[in-house]
Amino acid sequence: MAYTNSNIELASEIQNLKKEKNAVILAHYYQESEIQDIADFIGDSLELAKKAATTNADVIIFAGVHFMAETAKILNPNKKVVIPDLNAGCSLDESCPPNLFSEFKKSHPNHISVTYINCSAEVKALSDYICTSSNAEKIILSIPKDKEILFAPDKNLGKYLIKKTGRKMTLWEGSCIVHETFSEKKILELKFQNPNAKLIAHPECEESLLSYADFIGSTSSLLKYVGENNSNEFIVATESGIIHQMEKKVPHKKFIPAPPNENCACNQCPHMKLNTMEKLYLCMKKLSPEIVLSEELIEKASIPLKKMMQLS
Ligand code: 13P
Ligand code: SF4
Repeated sequence: MAYTNSNIELASEIQNLKKEKNAVILAHYYQESEIQDIADFIGDSLELAKKAATTNADVIIFAGVHFMAETAKILNPNKKVVIPDLNAGCSLDESCPPNLFSEFKKSHPNHISVTYINCSAEVKALSDYICTSSNAEKIILSIPKDKEILFAPDKNLGKYLIKKTGRKMTLWEGSCIVHETFSEKKILELKFQNPNAKLIAHPECEESLLSYADFIGSTSSLLKYVGENNSNEFIVATESGIIHQMEKKVPHKKFIPAPPNENCACNQCPHMKLNTMEKLYLCMKKLSPEIVLSEELIEKASIPLKKMMQLS
């Protein structure tokens, strides 16, 4: 997106507010470019959780989606955590309401539950382990082989992990609205038109698409890969926001966003894109909307989250 005068003014106001409130801005790679450029730290879900757990700032401004801001609050409960738009949700989180997840667990006694971090604080509190796409393999392999595993809420990541780890897992039927809409047909056409391009994909994509990928990984590992790999062209099958950092890291390389099924902007996460520079400015000025969780919920949800942090 082009920088307009009003965005430049907002950027300068945001810098002033950062100092005035002793705030830190944490942003996910799927945020719009201007937000990424003004953030103090940009990362994937695991890196953002680590940063949130250790910051010295008084206020965490979380430019990402709700479950990420909740995670920051759980890991650093004495800090104020605010998010530009409280409605910035996630289709995976929505697919897994705590009451249904609790029934899923009850109907599979003696199973260990590993839950992807893309879920609510309530679901975290009911889980044995939390994982992100960067550490899921490690976390699953740390579970004794004689234990059966429940994996929620992303069935695509779950299927990928079953292949990678060889562990049997019962999967929750959730998926990401962005990663499941990439068109396999259009990607194959792109591969044909760009024979030297490597296809890189996030493990939230469907199994059939992943089978064509040259590299599969979390947002951070995709970014690392394009810097280290000697190819000069990449077809990027994840939310297109990450391409901003790829272009900054290796400006001479070419990045082709993976096309969705329809002629829509569905390779952009509608939840992530609810956050704008204006809402970022307003939330810093008012220190609202704030993430508020009960002490009891924080205590319960922090147990599997802290296990994850220790294993990462
Ligand atoms: P990462 O852990 O790779 O940042 O993924 C988060 C996410 O929501 C992907 O859709
Ligand atoms: Fe959730 Fe998908 Fe958006 Fe990531 S891209 S926040 S998984 S809806």
